[in-house]
Amino acid sequence: MITCCIFDLDGVLVDTARFHYRAWADMAHELGFEFTPEQGEATKGVSRMASLDIVLRAGGMENRFTQEEKERLATEKNARYLAYVATMTPDDVLPGVRDFLADLKRHGVKTALGSASKNAGTILDRCALRDAFDAIVDGTLISRAKPDPEVFLKGAELLSTSPKVCVVFEDAAAGIEAATRAGMRSVGVGDGQSLARATMNITTFENFTYETLCKTID
Ligand code: BG6
Ligand code: MG
Repeated sequence: MITCCIFDLDGVLVDTARFHYRAWADMAHELGFEFTPEQGEATKGVSRMASLDIVLRAGGMENRFTQEEKERLATEKNARYLAYVATMTPDDVLPGVRDFLADLKRHGVKTALGSASKNAGTILDRCALRDAFDAIVDGTLISRAKPDPEVFLKGAELLSTSPKVCVVFEDAAAGIEAATRAGMRSVGVGDGQSLARATMNITTFENFTYETLCKTID
């Protein structure tokens, strides 16, 4: 029985993964190297500072900066990222997402957000999505990044429910691993082979229903 769905935000409900990538790639370019989309895959689901380390490593600059300089680089990246986010509207919610959330509500299924992002609240507000969730866990509430299960366990706790009845929707390998470690089933969203460990996979929420979810994994 599935009575709770927990959603990652970036790359699942909205296409902000491309904004994260562009902001990191711009920073890398200014530092004098190119950061490719393939290298960008590894930053998905990973915290801001851990993503910075991935980018700097790609440019052979992992030992170049002090902690203070790294904090400054991360702040600058975030400003670039937020400039992209500022262009978002409710139309940027990915196809099928609102219908699926409404379908869950009709079936009495509880919903939570489980995101590593400290900008999740801003994005939910820009996209008029905040009210769709019974609980919101974001990067400001957790201390351990995915693949640690903390973000999803906290979601289950806020919904007073057991991990066994929760399903996590994720576009990142680190998120699928976090769900598994939380004792939850998972739906990989997207076409990445990196999501092969998910319980099931979808490429879009279009025409996806609670009934299909239950038929496939319950
Ligand atoms: C995750 C993204 O949702 O949030 C990562 O997939 C990102 O790419 C992480 O690094 C932290 O986001 P933010 O908005 O706090 O920098
Ligand atoms: Mg994501």
